[in-house]
Amino acid sequence: MNKSFWQNIKKPFFCSAPMYGVSDEAFRRMLLKYGRPDVFFTEMVSADGLVYMAERAGIDSKQAGVFLETLRFVPEERPIAVQIFGSRPENFYKSALLLRQMGFDGIDINAGCPDKNIEKQGAGASLIKNPGLVKEIIVAVKEGVADSGVSLKTRIGYNANKTEEWVGYLLEQDLDALIIHGRARSQGFGGTADWSAIKKAVELRDRISPRTIIVGNGGIADMKDAKNKFEESGVDGAMVGRALIGNPWFFSDEEKERKDKKIKAILEHLAIFEENFKIKNFDDIKKHLAAYTSGFDGAKELRMELMESKSVEEARKAVAEFGSKS
Ligand SMILES: Cc1cc2nc3c(=O)[nH]c(=O)nc-3n(C[C@H](O)[C@H](O)[C@H](O)COP(=O)(O)O)c2cc1C
Repeated sequence: MNKSFWQNIKKPFFCSAPMYGVSDEAFRRMLLKYGRPDVFFTEMVSADGLVYMAERAGIDSKQAGVFLETLRFVPEERPIAVQIFGSRPENFYKSALLLRQMGFDGIDINAGCPDKNIEKQGAGASLIKNPGLVKEIIVAVKEGVADSGVSLKTRIGYNANKTEEWVGYLLEQDLDALIIHGRARSQGFGGTADWSAIKKAVELRDRISPRTIIVGNGGIADMKDAKNKFEESGVDGAMVGRALIGNPWFFSDEEKERKDKKIKAILEHLAIFEENFKIKNFDDIKKHLAAYTSGFDGAKELRMELMESKSVEEARKAVAEFGSKS
């Protein structure tokens, strides 16, 4: 049984999107600093290129350097998935072995990129037209990865919305996660992403492959919008791309920052109280605990728990339980 990070992920969750030329290590470190997603994705890298680099010691060092820089990450980014594109199953297998050794937590197969140069190789979105090959690629990656997660990122069809057939087919391939950009290949990045198709994908998942995690993608503008899309579609997670560019604070919305600050203050206040006031009545601190617990999601529930606590220990436990739920 595969035990990848996807199986233990707390829902709902967020991923930062793979964006060629954008989601590099510098960009991801900015997100780490200002508000990280639950899962990072690298830019796409070529399976053929990786294998070529690994097998040909004579490859010029500049080209190898480009690959190595694209694949660099810091441990704090984990879990991190690396995305690969290509059309040769054998090179997907070899790449998976290599990337596993490099410590990536997941491998993501690109089956959605509309770029002409990528499609010309039979890769990216053109894989949507070749389900048999996609199946072989998924099998090849699975063979190479041991317990890393195997996911695939795709669109809802090539020329039109074919969610039922295409996503239905992918769900038969026993993937750990399926990331669905709610546009057909023919739409490029224009128009609006179809989240009702993504909702359909969730329904298909429930029927065909309950263990596969569904991640919705396309057009998420901010956290409020994300919340609506979660509710509308029932996805397990959402992936955000363009809205992160120039906005590394995307995931640290004010509400969450306020909550984190207030929780931190509660724990600090409890620690000072515990250290200095051994015989003072615990109830004396409650007016402060009540005042801290306002202005964030779940504040009222936490306040009620804290008001019932009878010791610093119990109050800490209530905070810890709240933290594990939120
Ligand atoms: C500059 C740029 C580069 C992209 N590169 C990739 C890529 O390497 N792999 C991929 O699967 N999708 C790629 N995408 C698509 C995004 O991952 C995402 O599916 C798309 O932008 C829709 O999400 P958004 O509306 O949140 O941006 C790229 C998009 C942009 C704008």
